[in-house]
Amino acid sequence: MQIIILENAEQVASGAAQWVAEVIKQKTNPVLGLATGSTPISLYKQLVEYHQKGQLSFENVTTFNLDEYHNIEAENPQSYRTFMKQNLFDHVNIDQEKTYLPTCRNDQNPRVQGLAYEEQIKNAGGVDLQILGIGANGHIGFNEPTSSLASRTRIKTLTKQTLQDNSRLFKKDEYQPTMAMTMGIATILDARYVLLMATGKNKAAAVKQMITGPVTAMCPASALQMHENAIILIDKDAASELTEQEYFQWANQEHQKINQTFGLFI
Ligand code: PGA
Repeated sequence: MQIIILENAEQVASGAAQWVAEVIKQKTNPVLGLATGSTPISLYKQLVEYHQKGQLSFENVTTFNLDEYHNIEAENPQSYRTFMKQNLFDHVNIDQEKTYLPTCRNDQNPRVQGLAYEEQIKNAGGVDLQILGIGANGHIGFNEPTSSLASRTRIKTLTKQTLQDNSRLFKKDEYQPTMAMTMGIATILDARYVLLMATGKNKAAAVKQMITGPVTAMCPASALQMHENAIILIDKDAASELTEQEYFQWANQEHQKINQTFGLFI
C-alpha cells in the first residue's frame, strides 16, 4: 500500500485527479472504475476542469461504477447514473454508451445481472484504475462488513449505519432504497490499480483498520492490503488515528522522487 497523507480534502482531490489523468493519457483505451459519494465530487470537478481547459480527453474512456441502487430508474434524481451525469459524464466528451453501472430492476435476476456486469468488465479489458471511497464502517462500494473477500458483483442489503450515513442525501419523504448492486471485493481487487480517497475525522477509525488492522470481512477495505498497487490518498484528519504517520510521510517523500523520474505508472 502506498499511503499518501495530504494537508486537506482539496489536496486529496487534486492528487487523485493527477493519477486519473495520467492513466487516461497513458492508456489507448483506458478503463476507469468510478465511485459515488461526497468524497469523489471534488475529484470529478477537477477532471471536468482539466477537460474544459483542453488538457484531458475522455474520448476513448470506458467507465464502470462500483454500485447502483436496486430497482431505480436511470432518470431518478437519486440514481448513481444521475450522480455521475451531474458530476462528470455530462461535462466531458465521454461516450455515454461506454459508461456502465451495475443495474438491476425488480423483474431481473440479480445473479444474472451480476454475472453480466463481471463479463462486461472483462470484455472491456479489465479496470485500469479503480476509484474508491471508504464508509465509516470500512465498506468499499456497498460491500458492507461481513462481505466475502471473494465476492463478485451481486445484490447487497445495506446496513443501518450506511442507510443512516446516506439519509442526508434524501429528502424527508423520499424513498431511500435499502438494497444495491455492487462490485464485489474480488472484483475490486482485480483492478490493476486502486486509488482510495478518504477525508475527515469520521473516517479515521476505518482508515486505521484498513491499513493496520487484520485483513477481515469485518472491514472490507482491509482487503486492499492484498492488492499489489493500492494507493491510499487521505487528509490529515482521516490519518489522525494512524500511529505510523511519520513513516508514511517520509516514505512518500522518497516515492515522490521516484515518481518524478519514472512517472506514476509502470
Ligand atoms: P462518502 O462515502 O464519500 O459520501 O463519505 C464513501 C463511501 O461510503 O464509500
